[in-house]
Amino acid sequence: MIVCVCRRISDREIARHARAGMGFDEIQFELGVATQCGQCEGCARDVVAQCNASCPTANIKLATQAQEGSPWNTSQASL
Ligand code: FES
Repeated sequence: MIVCVCRRISDREIARHARAGMGFDEIQFELGVATQCGQCEGCARDVVAQCNASCPTANIKLATQAQEGSPWNTSQASL
């Protein structure tokens, strides 16, 4: 199904990028989804969210980032 009519981007294309571990902003930059009229942004974000919820690779990536430390973890360590 075409999600972004302006850029002719399908849900499959968005899902493929999301399963590769990309977030919405990265997908938007890469594909140009939701960069013209913006009507597709909600649907595109839903596709990304569904893929992230069912994609163990994305969860592993987030867990790795948490272990390596991020700005919000650093602030807790200083308390
Ligand atoms: S439908 Fe995606 S930017 Fe217009």
